[in-house]
Amino acid sequence: MIKFFAENRLFHLQTREFSYVMQVLENEQLVHRYFGKKVNHFGTGNKITYLDRAFAPSPISGDRTFSLEALSLEYSGNGLGDFRMASVELRNEFGVGLDLKFQTYRIYKGKFALEGLPSSFGSEDEVETLEIDLYDALTDVTVTLLYSVFESANFLARSVKITAGEHATTIEKCLSFTLDMPRKDFVVHSLMGRYAYEKEWTQTPLTSGRYEISSVRGASGHAQTPFLALADERITEDSGEIYSGHLVYSGNFKAFAETSPLHYTRWGIGLNDQAFSWRLEEHQSFQTPEALISYTDQGLAAMTQDSHNFIKYHLVRSPFVDKVRPILINNWEATYFDFTEEKILELAKVASQTGIELFVLDDGWFGRRNDDESSLGDWFVNRQKLPNGLGGLAQSINDLGMEFGLWFEPEMISINSDLYRKHPDWAIGITGRDPIYSREQLVLDLSQEQVCDYIIESVGSILESAPITYVKWDMNRNITSMPERLANNERYEFHHRYMLGLYRILEELTTRFPHILFESCSGGGGRNDLGMMYYMPQAWASDNTDAIGRLSIQEGTSLIYPVNSIGAHVSAVPNHQVGRVTPLETRGNIAMMGGAFGYELDLTSLEKEEIEEITEQVATYKSIRQTIQNGQFYRLARTSNTQSTIYVNEDRSQAVFTFVKILAQPEAPLIQVRLKGLDPEVQYSCSQLNETFYGDELMNIGLTMPSVQKDYFSVQYIFNKI
Ligand code: DGJ
Repeated sequence: MIKFFAENRLFHLQTREFSYVMQVLENEQLVHRYFGKKVNHFGTGNKITYLDRAFAPSPISGDRTFSLEALSLEYSGNGLGDFRMASVELRNEFGVGLDLKFQTYRIYKGKFALEGLPSSFGSEDEVETLEIDLYDALTDVTVTLLYSVFESANFLARSVKITAGEHATTIEKCLSFTLDMPRKDFVVHSLMGRYAYEKEWTQTPLTSGRYEISSVRGASGHAQTPFLALADERITEDSGEIYSGHLVYSGNFKAFAETSPLHYTRWGIGLNDQAFSWRLEEHQSFQTPEALISYTDQGLAAMTQDSHNFIKYHLVRSPFVDKVRPILINNWEATYFDFTEEKILELAKVASQTGIELFVLDDGWFGRRNDDESSLGDWFVNRQKLPNGLGGLAQSINDLGMEFGLWFEPEMISINSDLYRKHPDWAIGITGRDPIYSREQLVLDLSQEQVCDYIIESVGSILESAPITYVKWDMNRNITSMPERLANNERYEFHHRYMLGLYRILEELTTRFPHILFESCSGGGGRNDLGMMYYMPQAWASDNTDAIGRLSIQEGTSLIYPVNSIGAHVSAVPNHQVGRVTPLETRGNIAMMGGAFGYELDLTSLEKEEIEEITEQVATYKSIRQTIQNGQFYRLARTSNTQSTIYVNEDRSQAVFTFVKILAQPEAPLIQVRLKGLDPEVQYSCSQLNETFYGDELMNIGLTMPSVQKDYFSVQYIFNKI
């Protein structure tokens, strides 16, 4: 996987599909030579072209052709002639500037370690690691570049460690990687959006200048995802080059792609340098969060599948990673805060009769919480609502044959709470300024060890108090300020310290309760990122539960994240967010196509026929969920008015095809959809069509979609091998 060629001091990293090449120049500069389709040879004939470029600064007197600005650099400090976005910036008594020179390297089997942060993993047979030390003599700073190669998974994990020597220094910026590419004709793919409209798949041609996405919210955010891909302009599902980069982190981040006047592209990802700095005393180190890089020339479907597989088998640590997920009912949109034990049990009873397997009790079960203005932090059960406590309720739900799950929002504190009255200093705030509210709540200062200990203890004891097998971990506001308790020079460390505190909490709780399936949430997908997914294999994708609204959210999320990580529920009509009335069949089909399936509506208020339909949906989902959650996923033909997908199980004996047409049209053209992933020689039966087909017919000729004059129309066809 990793080779070092001593004669030309070249490092060549190879995965199943790509090569990544670096070289040490005569002056000890580490340059980037190649990233792209795998080559088995990178010979001495492949030389760097040096040219005299106007205004290009040179560190070598008399050599006007050598300039950092014109080279592809592996990791670049500022102040020495490279004017592009710097990878790293330090502030110390020597002024700015880092002259990073190659010092030494190490190659070993297995994955590099990352203390206190989520990161990918793999066995010694699957992963090999290269560490390269770069050294700046003036400041006595060592920058270690870490590369773990996942050969068959086709990924490269990156991180950077900065170590101070005899002098203290302050890190103002350190990205997890930057990469220089010798072309600029890319389209940038990213996942943007907003609250209730998360993960909008955005494609932006890279022109001159810089494309940047970032968050300073103390969370990755609804409006952006720590992910960026550079693709060929004419990429399709099945062909074209695409380079992708992820950050395994849930806090402030920055991802960018910029073109240089010499028509190169530099791109990268890492901690956001806004509101960040980190003090290193003598001999201390700092390590960046992990970034993941991949490449394929097989188009978007290959990127998606590599990404799903890597996340599932090398990043999600939960024992639930590929276990089938229970079908759940969540009471949020059924009752909001207004429930009693009796109401919950009525709902649970109907749910159990339909075959639903898990009841999730959402917000409002603790403290004196009857609306969103109080009690966050008071993690003890509200006996007025639940006289038999959580233990009693969970037992009654278990008696109905269902498991029991519970909602928490542990990082928050309400001003109207016992916790705030006791520990006002645990909330993030600034003396002399009014608190900044969001949903009437403040954020706990997780940079304080005692606050994290309180969360571990209070959540832990609730989890021990009842047979709870599922936790929904919510976070309903962003962080606006930094605690004034911190000294001036530590204040900009706060955001990262918060994340380290959160990760410690999650590490402890998920390790202590391995039988619990954790779902992350932040008002829907406000923190749906790989940092959270390391601990929690599922995420509530959006507070938008409208089936049609979900189409783009699910499509964007599944572009990179595994389908079984996407919580997708059938909700009531008219829909609570947009007022739309969609047929129950379409709500079911779209939620099933979303991944981890469930319901979120008052089943007790439905007609008998609707309950019968739901019972059928639940039974159908049970027969296909292994295929949906762990099968191969393909996006099929789509337009702004239609979407279709197919899931195919491992031995290609079952496939689930879904087609949705949003609005009916007059004189509509027929729509032919070609399926993918089937065995061409196998004959499949489809009970919904009462027909049989060979795989090659379905894939090459395709199926003609029904022509129906109805809005929000959908079909689900299940193909089983005969
Ligand atoms: C936001 C979540 O996204 C909702 O599903 C629900 O859990 C509410 N919070 C409860 O406050």
